[in-house]
Amino acid sequence: MKIVVTGGAGFIGSNFVYYELNNSADEIICFDALTYAGNLETLEDAQKNERFRFIRGDISSKADVEALFENERPDIVVNFAAESHVDRSIEAPDLFLKTNILGTQTLLDACRKYGITRFHQVSTDEVYGDLPLDRPDLFFTEDTPIKTSSPYSASKAGADLLVQAYHRTYALPVTITRCSNNYGPYHFPEKLIPLIISRALGDNTIPVYGKGENVRDWLYVEDHCKAIDLVMRKGTVGEVYNIGGHNEKTNLEVVKTVLAKLGKSEDLITFVTDRPGHDLRYAINPEKIQKELGWAPETDFDTGIEKTVKWYLDNKKWWENIINGSYRDYYEKMYSKR
Ligand code: NAD
Ligand code: TYD
Repeated sequence: MKIVVTGGAGFIGSNFVYYELNNSADEIICFDALTYAGNLETLEDAQKNERFRFIRGDISSKADVEALFENERPDIVVNFAAESHVDRSIEAPDLFLKTNILGTQTLLDACRKYGITRFHQVSTDEVYGDLPLDRPDLFFTEDTPIKTSSPYSASKAGADLLVQAYHRTYALPVTITRCSNNYGPYHFPEKLIPLIISRALGDNTIPVYGKGENVRDWLYVEDHCKAIDLVMRKGTVGEVYNIGGHNEKTNLEVVKTVLAKLGKSEDLITFVTDRPGHDLRYAINPEKIQKELGWAPETDFDTGIEKTVKWYLDNKKWWENIINGSYRDYYEKMYSKR
């Protein structure tokens, strides 16, 4: 089969490219616009595999997407391409709507026109909004109402609704997964865990929003890739599957765990102004994918953080190139007034 992976030069998409090259016999085409978050260095090893190809293109450009389908005629399209950072969406929502909503629609239209066996949308638990901190008994299920907080999550929810509409109206064979926070190799250092690692290694302060009490449900990226692979191949058409590993941590717990693994002092922690509209708690109920498809997370948090820290130590060039480039101006802009 021929699988197009949009956004395959980013964090989760690139991990998925490697997962498929290592675990399937399929042909993998990465289609990516190479925004600030896309990085061809990440795909250097994939480029050595004859089952892999990279095509630069924008999912919101009809011309780029039609050329892709005209030339490649993919069987499956897995859509990872997105603007993915909540803080950036608060600064400038426009691009989030263009890429995440219109980009998804452009892909869906091409799928209708050329025909595919599956369109899989990689979504997020953030479409469900948040849960209160004092109700640990509550979890997001696939039936939890959509109730978004940030321009990012609103744009992802818009995309999900379109995907479902294209199934209902045009019988397009779609599936959607909604996963909790991922961590692991190739994670861009604007996000919490790689930000802690890259800053702590330089003995720089670690900015913690508010009191650090917000809770996220962390999943090692390879476990997410396995779940997407299962749903894309065996999931029921038209269905949504939540993905998460019951691994809830406060942000402060995460920061302290990573600092301890790095042998760095907790004195680096600096509490800064909270994110506007900051979601309190995310927590997934993954029963549906466990029961229907037999998925279960394989990497516990301690092991996953250890592997991740080791990867960042072994691959300093990868993230140093990022933090010494235009990311430096981003950090200055976003954090100097916090
Ligand atoms: P990322 O920001 O690391 O990567 C996004 C990739 O998409 C980059 O390679 C970028 O160049 C590409 N891209 C952006 N705009 C594009 C466009 N218009 N056309 C083509 N390519 C474009 O993101 P990520 O963290 O890897 O997230 C991937 C997907 O998973 C996103 O859809 C995100 O909403 C979802 N998700 C992420 C998490 C998480 O914890 N990171 C959790 C659940 C779901
Ligand atoms: P992030 O990695 O941006 O993911 P998301 O907002 O999609 O959950 O942030 C994870 C949590 O860490 C979130 O509660 C915000 C918090 N956070 C900080 O406290 N400091 C930071 O510098 C960043 C980037 C995030």
